[in-house]
Amino acid sequence: MRGRAVTFRADPFQDGPAAALVHEPDALIVIEDGHIAAFGPHDALRPTLPEGTPVTTYPRAVISAGFVDTHVHYPQLPMIAAYGEQLLEWLERYTFPTEARYADAGYAARVARRFLRELLRAGTTTAAVYCTVHPQSVDAFFTESARLDTRMVAGKVLMDRNAPDALRDTAQGGYDDSLALIDRWHGNGRQLYAVTPRFAATSTERQLDLAGSLLRQRDGLFMQTHLSENVAEVEWIRRLFPSRRSYLDVYAHAGLVGPRGVLGHGVHVDEDTFHTCHATGCAMAHCPTSNLFLGSGAFRLFDALDPRRPVRVGLGTDMGAGTSLSQLQTLNEAYKVAQSTGRRLHPVQAFWLATAGGARSLHLDDRIGTIAPGIEADLCVLDPYATPLMAQRAEECDTIEDLLFVLMMLGDDRSVRATYVAGALAHDRDHDPDHDRDAPPAE
Ligand code: GUN
Ligand code: ZN
Repeated sequence: MRGRAVTFRADPFQDGPAAALVHEPDALIVIEDGHIAAFGPHDALRPTLPEGTPVTTYPRAVISAGFVDTHVHYPQLPMIAAYGEQLLEWLERYTFPTEARYADAGYAARVARRFLRELLRAGTTTAAVYCTVHPQSVDAFFTESARLDTRMVAGKVLMDRNAPDALRDTAQGGYDDSLALIDRWHGNGRQLYAVTPRFAATSTERQLDLAGSLLRQRDGLFMQTHLSENVAEVEWIRRLFPSRRSYLDVYAHAGLVGPRGVLGHGVHVDEDTFHTCHATGCAMAHCPTSNLFLGSGAFRLFDALDPRRPVRVGLGTDMGAGTSLSQLQTLNEAYKVAQSTGRRLHPVQAFWLATAGGARSLHLDDRIGTIAPGIEADLCVLDPYATPLMAQRAEECDTIEDLLFVLMMLGDDRSVRATYVAGALAHDRDHDPDHDRDAPPAE
């Protein structure tokens, strides 16, 4: 593949944007067996290719590693943009009734297909995904992801209290179902399993302990849950677990806090919590569109990333509470949240969060998130000229930093020209039947 490309050689929050950014104005990305074999200036690399090697050229585009969404709920796709409530009432009124539909495996398969197609349309190639309490919702998701060969992390929600009858498992039943799913899917091709207690309010202490035990049963498992998103939620957790020092301590006590753990939100947390995440390698997922939509509060990104004890932070859409599956739209809101806390999110830092930083937060940076030899060839091709408004603004750009800023502030799925998964074209905007409004629905 030939075109302008951006990727990273370092962390721009630690080393500064200039030292971290790799910008190749006319790059060649050589792809072999689903991996990147070589990356560099076109003129230097082209003579090394065997004669007749096909080259796809993307003029006036920006090629990036595929986006990484570190927190998202596929079953909530049908209820995105649910009016009026904040977190706890939103869960009761909209989320739980929607998730109850996933007892039907056929329904789960249809939504999983639509969700993964939407992710690819947004340029996202890896996500950490919550399914529902139903094991069949997990089989539906991984079956479709395996068909597409996308690298996905997902798991069955564990929830044995404070939820409707139809959505509760039991501590032992949740453990047994999770272990069977782990043995079916974890490390099956590119699929990875995350033990997924929904949050401390919907699991008994026994269920949390068993979740910790699950993590010790197999190598390389992930853990995902929610932490300190909303003030009323934090107060509820304090009442449910009076003997724990903090919300995070509820999870730490159960052995859930460590590498490959991902905590959604972390809006209302103290220095101690950031310190524990730093020390253990547990990540936080910054979900700005969700935090603004539900009125949850402003994540203190630059405090989390304090170079003296940086926390691994990824970017999450948190769709259905989040209002978009686009990481470009999510960066737009992340920029505004940073402004509201008196900080500047530089476009190079922003794109790092959406790609290499997200991969690092998941401890997957040796496989995805950058454009470099040996890394899996998950790529997105961004079009800064996607709309008339963007095109006239892009014409004004003299630097790659400015062009990236235009993409993150004005871009969305319309500016994703193409998405590649393991080297294969998985979304082609200009040949997408969903893009043609006169075409019959795909299902
Ligand atoms: N906390 C517990 N469950 C959820 C959920 O589904 N979405 C969000 N945003 N927060 C939660
Ligand atoms: Zn969530």
